Amino acid sequence: MKHEVIEKNSALLGVLIAVVISIGGLVEVVPLAASSEMTQPAPGVEPYTALQLEGRDIYVREGCYNCHSQMIRPLRGETERYGHYSLAGESVYDRPFQFGSKRTGPDLARVGGRYSDEWHRRHLLNPRDLVPESNMPGYPWLERRSVDASQTPKKLQVLRKLGVPYTDEQIAAAADEVQNRSEMDALVAYLQMLGTASQTWK
Ligand code: HEC
Repeated sequence: MKHEVIEKNSALLGVLIAVVISIGGLVEVVPLAASSEMTQPAPGVEPYTALQLEGRDIYVREGCYNCHSQMIRPLRGETERYGHYSLAGESVYDRPFQFGSKRTGPDLARVGGRYSDEWHRRHLLNPRDLVPESNMPGYPWLERRSVDASQTPKKLQVLRKLGVPYTDEQIAAAADEVQNRSEMDALVAYLQMLGTASQTWK
């Protein structure tokens, strides 16, 4: 009898359906959001240095994520090729994260330390100099442009508001750290730290 009331009132039925579905969603989401494995940095994960952070912004600006993921799935084929699968705690300082889903090129989550700085420079200037069959575009302007140091301290301050534990000293030193550095320097610094925390896990 009571059920008939609900069945004959589509607005009420709609509201109750929404309530039931949200409970299902909350049961999935709340434990994850509360779990420290998801919200705390994984062992060895440090906030980006000012130069790495600028490099990360260049990575986003140039759209590298359109061809490169940073997310190693826990599948044998992936872990054998790239190394330990990605942990949520590796991305806690990433805003926004760079998981990506398109792999025209290889996953970059563990690329740090795999090549020399010089390799990355030459590769970014013209990938075909090192990998003849590559279809990755060259980024020669990165070498000519310098990082805009006037914005760097503000970026660290905003991230600190969002919970990244930058100290006053790091913020004060940020502009000097990136002053007169090329965008290439910054991007290579970023690439060279990717996944380095995982090397301490063995
Ligand atoms: C059009 C797709 C495309 C875009 C955009 C692109 N890449 Fe690539 N990338 C590739 C392909 C394909 C390869 C594999 C061949 C090679 O090494 O050049 C590659 C390889 C790489 C490698 C070597 C990875 C390894 O493990 O050997 C790095 C590092 C890299 N890219 C960085 C970048 C960065 C940084 C950007 C943005 C500035 C970028 N890529 C943009 C397609 C792309």
